[in-house]
Amino acid sequence: MHFEFLSVANLRCLALTEYAPGPGVNLVCGANGSGKTSLLEGFAMASLGRSFLSNTLSDIVRHGSGGLSVRARIQDPGAGRSMTVQVRKVRGETEISMDGESVPSASTLARAVPTLVMNSKAADMLTENPSNRRALIDRTMFHVERRYVEHWKAYRQALRQRNELLRQGAPSRDVVFWDERLATLGEAIDADRSRVVDAMSDMLAGSALNDILGTLSIRYSPGWDREMGYREQLRSSWQRDSQAGYTTVGIHRADLAIRCEGRAVARRISRGQGKLLVATLYAGLAKFIAGETGRTPVFLVDDLHAELDDKLCSQAVDIITSRGGQCIFTAIRPSDLPAVTERTDDVFHVEHHRAASPA
Ligand SMILES: Nc1ncnc2c1ncn2[C@@H]1O[C@H](COP(=O)(O)OP(=O)(O)OP(=O)(O)O)[C@@H](O)[C@H]1O
Ligand SMILES: [Mg+2]
Repeated sequence: MHFEFLSVANLRCLALTEYAPGPGVNLVCGANGSGKTSLLEGFAMASLGRSFLSNTLSDIVRHGSGGLSVRARIQDPGAGRSMTVQVRKVRGETEISMDGESVPSASTLARAVPTLVMNSKAADMLTENPSNRRALIDRTMFHVERRYVEHWKAYRQALRQRNELLRQGAPSRDVVFWDERLATLGEAIDADRSRVVDAMSDMLAGSALNDILGTLSIRYSPGWDREMGYREQLRSSWQRDSQAGYTTVGIHRADLAIRCEGRAVARRISRGQGKLLVATLYAGLAKFIAGETGRTPVFLVDDLHAELDDKLCSQAVDIITSRGGQCIFTAIRPSDLPAVTERTDDVFHVEHHRAASPA
């Protein structure tokens, strides 16, 4: 699957910008503040129905305009045809359409148009709190499985209800219903998450990074003791949860421990090496999404060269492009990313294509 064409109107500094990337490796160049990240945001909106940077509409709608729109033509070899996607955000409402038909939920779009966004924040997942690592797994499943999103919504609702009862000091029998619901939903989500983790783990196991950095491994803990099981642990943690006023076990507490030579990577490897590691994990995610959906996700890679020397940068580009799908990289100048420049004829200078006002 690849983008044949993208038009964004009133997205941040981009009044109107049109871009027809090639099916393989692409490079978007421009000075600081010229709109490179905004253009990637436009591609991601045509996949997720929302920005990957902000949930606040006034942040992303161009100042002084009433709303924004993103239109994309996408070639899907599996379906043997092009599809048109439109995402409009006007007065706080999001309208998504595919081939002119309104789409009620962004998850339908996400499955049809899978993308992976790798920006400077991506490497932070190695060092920051577990929610970033959980979010990466959840975003991946968002492109794969409708059921996953529905399970999550139901899980959150059950969690709210259980926490409310805990805060009210309700007796343990009152939470039995919600324990059962949480256990069923939590185990289903855990099974899906485990598949994503296995894909990342397989990619790491086969990676040359093990020779460079030392033996790498991933361990996923679901947020409860597997031996005891989630149902039993919910039951046995009731007293502690009542005192805390919230549910202390469950998939909302899961974590992904990424280790090098048995120790947390954050302590063993540098920021640049971490970026290479994250590129490898993302390659695992791309393979997983392609295997599950039959669609190779589009890589949107912002500022890859920041913090990387030429050698690591070239290795990261190899890892990202090796699966052969469409990749859109950004850099200030083509010379910042020689490994990309030599793989593409298609350098898009964003400031040359920015129109002053939308049509
Ligand atoms: N809602 C908005 N309306 C108008 N302009 C905006 C809005 N939000 C951000 N901007 C401007 O858009 C530009 C954002 O550009 P963007 O982040 O895409 O640049 P960039 O080319 O990625 O730069 P860098 O190389 O520094 O990463 C900035 O100049 C910013 O001030
Ligand atoms: Mg940028």
